[in-house]
Amino acid sequence: MPSNASTTRGHPPAASFRALCRDVRHGAGLAVHEPTLQAAAAEWPLLTAALRQHAAGRRDAQVYDQPAAFEAFIRGGGNVPLYEQVSAELAGQYAGVRSLLDIGCGDGHALFPALAARPHGLERLTLLEPAAALLASALARAQAEQPELPVQARHERLDAFAANLGAADRWDVAQATFALQAIPEPERWDGLARLRGHAGRLVIVEFDIPDLQRDPDTLLLSLVGRYERALGEYEGATRELVALGFLLPMFLGQLDEQTAATNWEHPAPVWRTRLERLGWRVRRLERLCDYFWSPAFVLVAEA
Ligand SMILES: C[S@@+](CC[C@H](N)C(=O)[O-])C[C@H]1O[C@@H](n2cnc3c(N)ncnc32)[C@H](O)[C@@H]1O
Repeated sequence: MPSNASTTRGHPPAASFRALCRDVRHGAGLAVHEPTLQAAAAEWPLLTAALRQHAAGRRDAQVYDQPAAFEAFIRGGGNVPLYEQVSAELAGQYAGVRSLLDIGCGDGHALFPALAARPHGLERLTLLEPAAALLASALARAQAEQPELPVQARHERLDAFAANLGAADRWDVAQATFALQAIPEPERWDGLARLRGHAGRLVIVEFDIPDLQRDPDTLLLSLVGRYERALGEYEGATRELVALGFLLPMFLGQLDEQTAATNWEHPAPVWRTRLERLGWRVRRLERLCDYFWSPAFVLVAEA
């Protein structure tokens, strides 16, 4: 990923750009930041334009409650080849599997192409998703594409779901594609620890992010470079929708982790270590494909 962003020439100082972003997030006026905005526009035109638009009409940070933006995001740009690879990987996991739990299924964009890819023997599908609109989309898709498959919809977060698991609640496979990053710690690890007694196999797909945390300026410039690349993968009205409804809230949340973070990620080896500490036996950890954010990887673990 663009960890070489720190060598970029001509961008505004990281501190000025960070102050600008903080004021955008807090809805403060941008007049004082005009020189920074102009320098930034020369280097990162798409992100700077999106920051101006975001400041002009304040947006909510609850990114997954804006399904139109998220759905446009995952249906365009580099997400198309990404999701093709993810669904192909999932389809390969379903041989001999009768019961499947999808944690944070969203609208089922990874799940349903995987189910359609080849015949499966599933007898039970559980969809866990706290965003009502996304869960409704996933359910509608299940009825349309998998009408014979019994589906249970759980409109709740992982913590509430895991806390109420009974002895009879069991799945052959629990999967989570880009969902565990959206679940804060410690909810995520507590949930995965409880789930180990109820799922035979865990399949997760996440991004192998670089470990840039120690240098805030390098991290900032890396983030800016990645979001600029992402915005360049969309055009026109779709770019605006994706920018204001999804990518900008994500970006601003990542700059202000304490108060507005919307996801929590790790380099791939950290996922392995943390899961093994919970008792999961990691059987596979492989890179899937390149992506604007970071390469995606698949991890398969047994209870
Ligand atoms: C990046 S989306 C991924 C959706 C889907 N799995 C996919 O691959 O397209 C992250 C999902 O995690 C869900 N999520 C957020 N917080 C959650 C929580 N506490 N428990 C379960 N799911 C959560 C979001 O609502 C969202 O649908």
